[in-house]
Amino acid sequence: MQPPIITTSLQGDSQTLSIQKPASGLSLLGRIRVPGDKSISHRALMLGAIASGETTIEGLLLGEDPRSTAKCFSLMGAQISELNAERVIVRGVGIGNLEEPIEVLDAGNSGTTMRLMLGILASHPGRFYAVTGDSSLRSRPMSRVIKPLQQMGAQIWGRKSNSLAPLGVLGQQLKGIHYHSPIASAQVKSCILLAGLMAEGETTVTEPALSRDHSERMLRAFGAKLSVDPETCSVTVTGGAQLQGQNVIVPGDISSAAFWLVAGAIVPGSELVVENVGVNPTRTGILEALEMMGADIQLQNQREAAGEPVADILVRTSSQLRGCTIAGDLIPRLIDEIPILAVAAAFASGTTIIRDAAELRVKESDRLAVTAAELNRMGAQITELPDGLEITGGTPLTGTDVDSYTDHRIAMSLAIAALNASGKTTIHRAEAAAISYPDFTATLQQVCHQN
Ligand code: S3P
Repeated sequence: MQPPIITTSLQGDSQTLSIQKPASGLSLLGRIRVPGDKSISHRALMLGAIASGETTIEGLLLGEDPRSTAKCFSLMGAQISELNAERVIVRGVGIGNLEEPIEVLDAGNSGTTMRLMLGILASHPGRFYAVTGDSSLRSRPMSRVIKPLQQMGAQIWGRKSNSLAPLGVLGQQLKGIHYHSPIASAQVKSCILLAGLMAEGETTVTEPALSRDHSERMLRAFGAKLSVDPETCSVTVTGGAQLQGQNVIVPGDISSAAFWLVAGAIVPGSELVVENVGVNPTRTGILEALEMMGADIQLQNQREAAGEPVADILVRTSSQLRGCTIAGDLIPRLIDEIPILAVAAAFASGTTIIRDAAELRVKESDRLAVTAAELNRMGAQITELPDGLEITGGTPLTGTDVDSYTDHRIAMSLAIAALNASGKTTIHRAEAAAISYPDFTATLQQVCHQN
């Protein structure tokens, strides 16, 4: 009898996920779907909540992060039907009409919820909002959005000289500014644009490289007046907008598909099709990086759904991945995929260098430190750089005990590494995956075929 490939166990709230490749080997086969895009799900709930009329959302991510967004906006008067992936209906309050909630708004683990919501709250004159999050979010920098909001006239208080949650916001009539962001961050850009919806005059954000543009696409669809200058990576929104509820179709999340793309590329004898994945060009850096590494990936059935490009993605095992350099403007286009790219690099020949990625230190965990530490426990050769990783590929990995550090993307990256390691890997605090991918283990079980 072969031992089971995948087992889970619960200790209190904490789940461990154990993965052991059978002696005969395994392959990954099948056609799968990944849950809805996290970034688009947050934005659909938020714009639906502040628009007039009804918004319907198909394909919403049912992970913990969008649930935090839905809870916060429900507390401020938006009527949001029970969350399900088929169809969620949001009855918005109309712009400027969010109520002052009696409770603290809890963004949980979600940086997107907290940062985007701050832009909306800061522009509701005379209303007071208290905002917090879990222990990870309470240690993540909020000054990157608080400072530009203060330049617009916002009043926000928080720990450590107004830089960390819990935060208090007293809404004001804001004024438009031109903000030159020092970082390419869609959360910063979106926060300021959302504040700009109710500000006097025009609000422009210029970033050093283009970050994901889901806010721009959706704001336009909801009726905001918005202009984009791709040459200078600038977006301008005109204050005084009226937003009208829309039908939003959320494509599958390319950041979740990335786990299967790497898994299919590294596990021998695999062939996977991930259907209905969002392939917005501001998010497809992962496809370009895997292509540079020599992965066998094809886009099929390319189409558009509610203003976002979508495709099915076929991956077959690569004969040999090779190391590459990932840096510069590519980084914001694959910012969330660096832990799983590090797994691909650990199985590639030669050295992979990742640079210009210091942002990873302030994600749900310090992803540079944690990726290096946990994959090195399995035998990888990864050196941390101040702003990236140097990965010498090709040394075989061996299963052992590893930890997610409660970071969803770390939990799933370690699970994919385990598929190609010898022996048993046990991932502690694996429940973190539910932040963005509640069915991750079920899909893993579905695609794993013993040889
Ligand atoms: C997100 C933007 C990115 C990304 C995060 C989601 C968004 O963060 O890492 O998972 O939805 O705007 P930054 O904008 O801070 O890089």
